[in-house]
Amino acid sequence: MACGAPLAPAAAPREVRKTVTALFCDLVGSTTLAERHDPEVLKPVLQRYFEEMRAAVERHGGTVEKFIGDAVVAVFGIPQVHEDDAIRAVRAASEMRERLMAFAEGSAVELVCRIGLTTGEVLVAGEDQPPIGDTMNIAARLQSSAEPGEILIGEPTYRLVQDAVVAEPVEPLALKGKTEPVPAYRLLQVASLSPMRTRRLDAPMVGRTRERVLLQQAFERAISDRACQLFTVLGAAGAGKSRLVEEFLSGIDEANLMRGRCLPYGDGITYFPVAEAMKEALGLADFDDESSVREKIHAAVAEEDHAEAITANLAKLLAAGEGGAPEETFWAIRRFLEVRGRERPVVVVFDDIHWGEPTFLDLVEHVADWSRDASILLLCMARPDLLDVRPGWAGGKTNAATISLAPLTEAECAELINHLVGSSDLPQEVRDRITGVAEGNPLFVEEMLRMLIDDGLLVRGGERWVPVGDLGDVSVPPTISALLSARLDRLSDAERTLIEAAAVCGKEFHRGAIGDLVPEDSSGDVDIHLRSLVRRELIGPQRSLLPGEDAFRFRHLLIRDAAYDSIPKHERADLHEAFADWLERVAGHRVAEQEEILGYHLEQAYRLRAELGPLDDQAKGLGERAAKLLMAAGRRALDRGDVPATLNLLSRAAELLPRIPRRARCSSPTWP
Ligand SMILES: Nc1ncnc2c1ncn2[C@@H]1O[C@H](COP(=O)(O)OP(=O)(O)OP(=O)(O)O)[C@@H](O)[C@H]1O
Ligand SMILES: [Mg+2]
Repeated sequence: MACGAPLAPAAAPREVRKTVTALFCDLVGSTTLAERHDPEVLKPVLQRYFEEMRAAVERHGGTVEKFIGDAVVAVFGIPQVHEDDAIRAVRAASEMRERLMAFAEGSAVELVCRIGLTTGEVLVAGEDQPPIGDTMNIAARLQSSAEPGEILIGEPTYRLVQDAVVAEPVEPLALKGKTEPVPAYRLLQVASLSPMRTRRLDAPMVGRTRERVLLQQAFERAISDRACQLFTVLGAAGAGKSRLVEEFLSGIDEANLMRGRCLPYGDGITYFPVAEAMKEALGLADFDDESSVREKIHAAVAEEDHAEAITANLAKLLAAGEGGAPEETFWAIRRFLEVRGRERPVVVVFDDIHWGEPTFLDLVEHVADWSRDASILLLCMARPDLLDVRPGWAGGKTNAATISLAPLTEAECAELINHLVGSSDLPQEVRDRITGVAEGNPLFVEEMLRMLIDDGLLVRGGERWVPVGDLGDVSVPPTISALLSARLDRLSDAERTLIEAAAVCGKEFHRGAIGDLVPEDSSGDVDIHLRSLVRRELIGPQRSLLPGEDAFRFRHLLIRDAAYDSIPKHERADLHEAFADWLERVAGHRVAEQEEILGYHLEQAYRLRAELGPLDDQAKGLGERAAKLLMAAGRRALDRGDVPATLNLLSRAAELLPRIPRRARCSSPTWP
């Protein structure tokens, strides 16, 4: 009898800090336009302008935040972060300009726009709330500094997209409210399909011997059985799937090679990978007309039964980019592959199939299940996300194998670093720092090195690379941070809350702490969510140091960092304090052993509060508690004769104490 009554109060929107790309587009000379044209002429033109701009933004996965007068404000990364948000925004900007030019051509009203965009951190307080942060202001100012018809890109965006664009630097801009001039780039061209960042293949391959043997065996089996083999390489982003396959392909020359890749977004992408592979195999160009496409397909399958039907189906797919009924399209593609696989073994490579549309994945399984009397190796690469949408991928097939790429060993990482910097002249501390952070992921090794060199933190000093400053707290390379944030953004709210609490605890954490830190309403499901995070390879089980307590560790320090960075500072402060309380409780009479860790968490809670504004008495109390603990830990370090640790702990304690006159401090009885 309570129809219409809310069942439960809606959960408060989650606040997150995230890196987004903000885009501002405005019309040049709006006032003059209004002066020169009758409002009834202007109205439909402006309406069309807004529609076109919105369509361009949404086609690339962005969100129109608002319209201010004639300006369009769009954001890429809300509600969902994508690893390629920066290039999506640049492509959208270019499309906005093109659309405007196209429709202004036939219009009596002259429309030209200016566009500015940049990437940076914002705070998002809920889906219907505007993102808050300087990034929004900088994008707006870049827009107003652009010449008519120009697109200006901020430095952080440029660094992310530089391999996929042609852009030239403009004179750094003096922007209102900025002390330093802001570097910017004028966009000249953007590639529509290339990845945002090209992966370098110049360093020699290290490791992966076993995986290459398995690939070779699958290929040989396809030949000897004259049958189809489905081989899937799974691995996290940057683990080296594409590279492994490249190396394998370069070692075989007796095969017909066909390659396609799935795209993360776009129109009509279902059959894109197949069409790409077939076009290459048939020597078709992008703009071939339908009759020449038809001719080339027919020539390739002329000897077959049903050659006409195969040709008709494939021509539709290749010329129009769309298939007909799935059964017919699948059949025609399979027959085409069988024809090729009868002449010579055929290797069909599909990269990034975790982005594949369901129909495409069905097609791959169809070919694996039904092709006959032809040597076909279907070689697919995917991130583990594939298993979210297809948990049983390739399961139950006797002609299928799946391997998962493990991290490179420390020795292999060291070898890779040597190859990349061209010599072994890299100081050991830098080497350790990179291998420690990359934890066996070759992409992370490359990006860390590239960032250190680009940022001037690693410079060439004669024969050696010399670190400049402290490399201890270098940040996550932005490309990697985008990859990891996109992974985190795909988690459910409850999983996200949990992984954030875990990130505050540290790289390793205990189940009990998490139970204490997450809000009560979701704590009942902690175990379910922990299992889900393990399955997604974000965390893994770890040997516990506390009796009766399960322990876990982040699979990657960088995942912890990305999760930590996304927590709003006031929540971070609360979580650090709550964790310290939990630790104090479980440590019991052995609390003295935990003084340094406890002190660290209270210190963080205090510092974060200080960053957010004037401190109240409770926050000051936190600082004093932290200082006492750090001092006690410092005294212990002194007793051990560990001078650097003593200095570090005591100076941090001193920072936390209220400023006291020098003389008084020297005579303080608590000061060791
Ligand atoms: N075993 C290896 N030896 C040397 N370099 C490697 C190795 N594996 C990968 N790399 C390099 O690391 C980078 C990332 O590898 P790759 O692009 O193959 O990763 P991926 O698993 O395909 O990632 P994604 O899921 O993002 O496509 C590349 O520049 C590649 O050349
Ligand atoms: Mg790849």
